[in-house]
Amino acid sequence: MPTKKHTVRFEPDGVSVDVFADGENLLRVALVAGVHVNASCGGSGTCGKCKVKILEGEHEADRSSKISDEQWQEGFRLACRAKILGDLVVEVPIESRHEKGVLARIRGDKQDHVLAQKLLSAELETVPPEPIIRKYYLELTPPSDADNISDMGRLGQALKRAHRIESVGGEFEMLKTLPQVLREGEWKVTATVLTGRCGNKVLKVEKGDAREETYALAIDIGTTTIHAQLINAFTGKKIAKAAEYNAQMSMGEDVITRIVHAVKPGGLEALQKRAVKTINEVLKEVFDKSEIKRELVTHVVMGGNTTMTQLLLGIYPKYIREAPYVPAANLFPVFPARELGIDLPAGVLAYTMPCVASYVGGDITAGVLATQMHLGDELTLFMDVGTNGEIVIGNKDWMVSASASAGPAFEGGGVKFGMRASYGAIEQVRINPLDLEPMFMTIGQVKPKGICGSGMIDCIAELQQRGIITQNGKFNRELSAVNWRIREGEGGWEYVLCKAEDSQLEEDIAITEPDIDNLIRTKASIYSACSVLLRSVGLQFTDLQKIIIAGGFGQYIDVGKAMTIGLLPEVDPNIVSYGGNTSLEGCRIAALYKGKVEEAEQIASMITNIELSVSAIYMEEYVAALFLPHTRMEDFPIRARRLEESKKFLDEVRKANPSSVLK
Ligand code: FES
Repeated sequence: MPTKKHTVRFEPDGVSVDVFADGENLLRVALVAGVHVNASCGGSGTCGKCKVKILEGEHEADRSSKISDEQWQEGFRLACRAKILGDLVVEVPIESRHEKGVLARIRGDKQDHVLAQKLLSAELETVPPEPIIRKYYLELTPPSDADNISDMGRLGQALKRAHRIESVGGEFEMLKTLPQVLREGEWKVTATVLTGRCGNKVLKVEKGDAREETYALAIDIGTTTIHAQLINAFTGKKIAKAAEYNAQMSMGEDVITRIVHAVKPGGLEALQKRAVKTINEVLKEVFDKSEIKRELVTHVVMGGNTTMTQLLLGIYPKYIREAPYVPAANLFPVFPARELGIDLPAGVLAYTMPCVASYVGGDITAGVLATQMHLGDELTLFMDVGTNGEIVIGNKDWMVSASASAGPAFEGGGVKFGMRASYGAIEQVRINPLDLEPMFMTIGQVKPKGICGSGMIDCIAELQQRGIITQNGKFNRELSAVNWRIREGEGGWEYVLCKAEDSQLEEDIAITEPDIDNLIRTKASIYSACSVLLRSVGLQFTDLQKIIIAGGFGQYIDVGKAMTIGLLPEVDPNIVSYGGNTSLEGCRIAALYKGKVEEAEQIASMITNIELSVSAIYMEEYVAALFLPHTRMEDFPIRARRLEESKKFLDEVRKANPSSVLK
């Protein structure tokens, strides 16, 4: 657990919150603590509604035109523009707590707002990289009458002597210029060497010590999004990253549609070209941002689900979707990246993460590698929520996997204002129980333009807890009389999170009933897959010691909210952590450590995959999970109690506040 740095007390409720880092944003802290502060521009500082008064304590805040000189002197600040630098006492004035300035008291939510801690491959960060293609600095003894072996022989001797690399051969292109490079470099050179299963090979020789000038790329080939990261392969430092929607999306949102397209004449080629086109766009962004030359890249590690891997490599994918669901291969040969059309120099080699089965691919192998669940004793559940939901359960002794056709809802697909976790995505949401007004923050604290996975989890959980939607995800129509945000829009009933004027769009940002249906199906599919997998090995949710969620949700996943909607089982929230894009992280680790490539291959061979489509209990589990949080409320006792409390609370508010909008 991180150590507490400061405490913030919010008045008049007296809710105190521990803060773990200097410079933490005051609005975010209020949001996590369940203290309502009006905030309708995502924290971009433009709506001016999040005014609070700092009564005591050290802080730093941007000056805003929304605050008069007089107010500034009195200690008023915009919470979204204030950083916490010491213990604070903060008053949330009535006008910042309630849209219309009525009602006396905010209810500090006594709920477990546990933000999943980001998982770090911490131990590896301190180990110097030892990639499969590595640069070695060598000082060679110049030839003489007594020692006139070939230049390549001399280089081989030096590698053996200094680095124990034996039987090294030379790449033809490298040999063409080797004599000049050795002499111009006065026998002090850097050799780029591939140490692989098929022998060791010098790929390139440069003058002087060029070890630090070496880069590798990690690429996550997602069905929806392709991410790339450039890393320094000598220091391990992350240099730049970028992401783009996969251009294959126009040929189908899911892998099945793409396979159908791929088996049509010219289909496979078209899909392959689109994946490569997106990769090239993402790489361009990475190189532009970093100003690193492509010539300095030595290798690429790519990870994707089995279909994406086969489509990228141009391998006929038809049999992936036909029983008994057989992939072409689980291990793929190393090949020059350029052969696929990837815009990298000729010598750059590409390695593809090994797959497990037709629907559990290299992205999951990479994910397990990143989480290191294959090295520990703890019974771990790893779920990667992308376009599909893939799940692995196990530890160092055994692992089982399954794939649930979840749909890309948490990645923004099939949700009206859904978007991936990038600038402008609403990622945290709270709704005031008293007036049903929202409070939210966006990634980058800019005006919102959509909502990402973690924002959707929060939003649905809050809508349910506030009684705005029922447990089957339908809007309580009568609440439209209470707050205009609950309304019938063009696409059905919806809750307006952000007015057009506060957003980057020309229309209101809302979450609709069809969106909620879609998200319920997605979470049901994932939860039921976990449930079936556990049952198949004679275990239950309470046996789990660790849960790792991965996927492009956004930085802040509220574990309690994920349980409230039934995406996660009701367990101790402290065992849950967030892995982020573990596929990309696993590729990065494999790009930096040769030993991890071997480990990835062991992981892929040790996982036993279970086909959910042939499971007799899957459908029964899925239907049971199509409810918020679940039809078996006995499995969610805390949520069941809170739902009751919430109902009682709303009744009390109605009685105690005759002027309440919740009449
Ligand atoms: Fe702070 Fe809008 S000004 S949330």
